[in-house]
Amino acid sequence: MILAMTNLLVTNARIATMRGGRYGEIGEGALLARDAAITWVGAMAELPGSARSGAEAVDAKGGLLTPGLVDCHTHLVYAGSRAREMEMRLAGKSYAEIAKAGGGIVSTVTATRAATNAQLRAATARRLEALMDEGVTTVEIKSGYGLDAEQELRCLRIARSLAADHAVSVSTTLLAAHTVPPEYACRADDYVETICTQMIPRASREGLASAVDGFCESIAFTPAQIRRVFDAAGRHGLRVKLHADQLSDSGGALLAAQYKALSADHLEYATDAGIEALARAGSVGVVLPGAFYYLRETKRPPVDAMRRHGLRMAIATDCNPGTSPTASLLTMANMACVLFGMTPEEALAGITCHAASALGLDDRGTLEAGKRADLALWDANEPGELVANIGGMRPSRVLFEGRVRP
Ligand code: NIG
Ligand code: FE
Repeated sequence: MILAMTNLLVTNARIATMRGGRYGEIGEGALLARDAAITWVGAMAELPGSARSGAEAVDAKGGLLTPGLVDCHTHLVYAGSRAREMEMRLAGKSYAEIAKAGGGIVSTVTATRAATNAQLRAATARRLEALMDEGVTTVEIKSGYGLDAEQELRCLRIARSLAADHAVSVSTTLLAAHTVPPEYACRADDYVETICTQMIPRASREGLASAVDGFCESIAFTPAQIRRVFDAAGRHGLRVKLHADQLSDSGGALLAAQYKALSADHLEYATDAGIEALARAGSVGVVLPGAFYYLRETKRPPVDAMRRHGLRMAIATDCNPGTSPTASLLTMANMACVLFGMTPEEALAGITCHAASALGLDDRGTLEAGKRADLALWDANEPGELVANIGGMRPSRVLFEGRVRP
């Protein structure tokens, strides 16, 4: 998006800078931005005298200013509904049983393939707009419901195209290794070959993906198959992420660490050694409380081990029709505290700076000079309020690239 030069001055704000993953509060603060980048953040009393001239002024009137929120794990591009599966689970069937019986991801693949571009784009846009209403300014969108080269690339194209008419930054991830599509039934290795020799090279060449993801699980792909996918990603200059240890200990965290993954996500069954390895590798651990809740899981991700090993923790919606049908990132932050025992400060870092790191984006997620001027203003007295409520909070204003979002 090309923007004219702008100067922005936000005054009278209580600022949660989120520097270093801490609230880093400034009581009566101000922020200056130029050309979509923050140039100065500090106390009102220290505001440079020249700052007011020629700047578009936003008086926060004592409201709370935070970085724009970052949802670092979504599956927004899909068609159809899986409401029936919820009924089956409530009647006692497990997610894995439903998937093995032909439901699950494959049923969404059928609906997605059948949707027109316009239908798929409109459905995706609705979910994106719901995220944006809550103050999200950066969103990761995975493919994963196309599962052949044309369909996967179509999903990525649709995801990318949404940034052209929405004031949001979109980061796309190729998740062709989501499950084995029906046409490759009993030939998973052949499907992996297609991913490695066709889909990854094309996604990279056509600039459609920033990363490659996979689902390492007994009902999806083995560690050996994921290695092949990750090796191909590396050959084509793409970083990796992994759905790791969600339903069982599959060694996913260790595998992700070996490949210096941007993030390993879910992690309910990750071992202590896996968490330690992720921390050493500089990866981010992404917890997804929506899926934990919706599947009525009981094993929580090892948040204590993450803290002990210094693994940065992010939180995301995992918005998808089967395991986490939600587009409320703030509800996920609340659930990460209530269900997983994270602190509100950790949760806010998990949907700002650490979420940005999970996408390899070091230009956002905190309010400090040099970062993007993606900001959210809230009628809140303290940062913890964003997380203490069960969703329902809406920013009074969002600034994207230094401009008030209409
Ligand atoms: O992140 N774990 C795999 N992928 C999704 C679920 C996708 C689906 O069931 O449609 C997840 O939970
Ligand atoms: Fe997911």
